[in-house]
Amino acid sequence: MKIAVYPGSFDPITNGHLNIIERAAKLFDRLIVCVMVNHDKKPLFSLQEREDQIRRVTAHLSNVTVDSHFGLLAAYAKEHNCCTIIKGLRAGSDFEKEFQMAMINRKLNPELDSMFLTAEHQFMYLSSSAVKEMGYYGADLEDFLPAEIMDEFIHRIRNKEA
Ligand code: PNS
Repeated sequence: MKIAVYPGSFDPITNGHLNIIERAAKLFDRLIVCVMVNHDKKPLFSLQEREDQIRRVTAHLSNVTVDSHFGLLAAYAKEHNCCTIIKGLRAGSDFEKEFQMAMINRKLNPELDSMFLTAEHQFMYLSSSAVKEMGYYGADLEDFLPAEIMDEFIHRIRNKEA
């Protein structure tokens, strides 16, 4: 059985993430979407909240499971028999960081490959940070956020301390 892991902060999950999940789920027997800690970011939602949000948003995908992990991705992949890390690649800025992470993860776990799916053109410049910025100032997020998490997101961002 080919199992892939799609790691990320997902704070919150966007339509760009969901598009990568739907495409990756067709390529593997099982896809684990794993919420992880990025020490460079201060999250709006807890790991558990993000995990619950992704579960709601991916309920229509039968081979997708959702998890969270506080630790190294390479170790998680080994523990869960994942052969491949899935990452979405947007416009140029992602490449260098992702290339470095792929090399590190392969060094830590030589059995592990990274596979990059290019973002669809409408999501090329989308990021959770941009969604938070737009949400903070009251922009319409319909094209960017899954409907299942819209109310929860708007409530949290509007009540966020400046
Ligand atoms: O959505 P993001 O913030 O770009 O995701 C980054 C993430 C969470 C996948 C990355 O920071 C990560 O893999 N964190 C877990 C710790 C780890 O394994 N780091 C890479 C090797 S130093």
